[in-house]
Amino acid sequence: MNYRHAYHAGNFADVFKHVILTRILAYLARKPAAFRMIDTHAGEGFYALGGVEAEKTGEWREGIARLIDARAQISAQVQELIAPYLAIAAPCLAETSPRYPGSPAIAAALLRQQDRMIFCEAHPETAARLKHNLGRDRRAKVIEIDGFIGLGAYVPPIERRGLVLIDPPFEAKDEFSRIVKHLEGAVRKWPTGSYMVWFPIKEREGVTRFYRQIGDVLVAAGIKDGLCVEFRVDEINPNLPLAGNGLVLVNPPYVLEAEARTILPWLVKVLGVPGCAGHHIARI
Ligand SMILES: C[S@@+](CC[C@H](N)C(=O)[O-])C[C@H]1O[C@@H](n2cnc3c(N)ncnc32)[C@H](O)[C@@H]1O
Repeated sequence: MNYRHAYHAGNFADVFKHVILTRILAYLARKPAAFRMIDTHAGEGFYALGGVEAEKTGEWREGIARLIDARAQISAQVQELIAPYLAIAAPCLAETSPRYPGSPAIAAALLRQQDRMIFCEAHPETAARLKHNLGRDRRAKVIEIDGFIGLGAYVPPIERRGLVLIDPPFEAKDEFSRIVKHLEGAVRKWPTGSYMVWFPIKEREGVTRFYRQIGDVLVAAGIKDGLCVEFRVDEINPNLPLAGNGLVLVNPPYVLEAEARTILPWLVKVLGVPGCAGHHIARI
């Protein structure tokens, strides 16, 4: 367990993932009924952008910083869709010691009094930082546990509404197959839940196999709504730093596909290398 998200916080992949996350959470919050977010690999919640790790890679400058700089040129339609994300991230960057909000901080900002959050984090120091960063938020529970064990234990939530975010570090060679196995168990227990799985795109073959396996899982569980959304800032090259990533979305809000089709071309334009960046959205 060597992965530290502090090196990558606020990069193009975080921007993409967190913009989509805010769209899903904002949709869930439209109805008054309580819902729950289960974050299987939660991280620290906030990341110091002036810290040694963030300074070392500078990835956030090509991600969230660029997005904020480009704000004025965004169409009104895209502005409206990314407004919940920027309303959380921009003030954090404007602090005296700039920070980037991770998924727990984003959830804490968007969930209401009646909603609940469970954050699983296996790294003891990271879990302790997350607890500290969330303060006394009575809606939130931080559990130092393997995220996939947490998934098995906390699904289905009593509210029977909500989102599971699966965002592992992909240190293990078999991460794709572990996700498929544990997602299969989760959707069997809670087929109406929404799930969002992040993954890196380093080569095409493994991703195609992953989609096929997820498709089989959804068919077996009788789930008809599966979507994949990909975003790359450059050509995919396994020998170069990560340039592409994707999300598998199970039971996403019905508006999400159209929203992603509006947001993604603009993200490609702002964060991508012209002529090399791109996006792809398809049903699974
Ligand atoms: C990509 S980061 C999470 C980022 C976070 N979801 C966000 O969007 O801000 C992955 C996190 O998973 C943690 N982790 C690694 N192995 C884990 C495991 N088996 N179970 C739970 N967490 C784990 C790492 O310590 C790291 O904080």
